Amino acid sequence: MKNNDFIDLLKSHRSIRAFTNQQVTDQVVDEIVESGRWAPTSHHVQAYSILVIKDEERKKDLATLAGNQSYVATCPVFFVICADFYRLKMASEKHGQSFEVGEQEQALVGAVDAALVAQNMLLAARSYDLGGVMIGGIRNDPEAVSQLLGLPPYTFPVMGLCIGYPAQSPNQKPRLPKRAVVFKEQYNQMEIDEAIGEYDQVMKTYYYERTKGKRSDTWSELMAQFLSTPKRPQVGDFLKKQGFISKK
Ligand SMILES: Cc1cc2nc3c(=O)[nH]c(=O)nc-3n(C[C@H](O)[C@H](O)[C@H](O)COP(=O)(O)O)c2cc1C
Repeated sequence: MKNNDFIDLLKSHRSIRAFTNQQVTDQVVDEIVESGRWAPTSHHVQAYSILVIKDEERKKDLATLAGNQSYVATCPVFFVICADFYRLKMASEKHGQSFEVGEQEQALVGAVDAALVAQNMLLAARSYDLGGVMIGGIRNDPEAVSQLLGLPPYTFPVMGLCIGYPAQSPNQKPRLPKRAVVFKEQYNQMEIDEAIGEYDQVMKTYYYERTKGKRSDTWSELMAQFLSTPKRPQVGDFLKKQGFISKK
């Protein structure tokens, strides 16, 4: 692949939520997983696990648990990417060392490792003309998801990933203007407000066209609404139960 082809792949991202019936071969699934395994990892901890789920019933159950997101069931292969310190506990025991994962830092390390793995996997899938979408809804009921998947202590599901051959070709969702998110040398608050105003108009048009006039929300309205209520408070309790964030 030429460099520019790779950049084009990165810049043509859009989430895919509708899939054809075409199956993804085991060989391709293996390549996707291998690509995930080669993600960089904090301190070489490799604090993640990938669960590969093809069983129709299990996908259906996960779709329900993820907030009735039907594409979790209809995608041919669904992955759950977990933060995972279970193996690291074994390493500590093997060498008679205490095992410290109670700081917020280690939960962050696991979540970041998992996210890097997931993005590598999505990009690898796209190189095979597959498409997909990440599923944070997997954290709606982390307890039930962990029961269903047999997750041990010191693990937590970070995200799901639906993969399959696209049966849709949505327009790309516009991103925030560069000046609101990229700063040279130092953070610059001066232009953010104006950039949001500009972006609101772009998103209004995007939603209007995508929904044939049914919606014309601005980005700031949607975000304000989204952040007006606490999100998934159950995640904190689950993390504590699994051995994380026990310390201040
Ligand atoms: C960690 C993560 C979790 C996500 N969870 C969901 C989800 O549960 N359901 C869903 O439909 N999309 C989910 N998405 C997709 C986002 O909604 C999507 O990336 C965003 O709206 C931008 O659209 P685009 O990916 O098409 O550019 C998730 C994305 C990320 C990165």
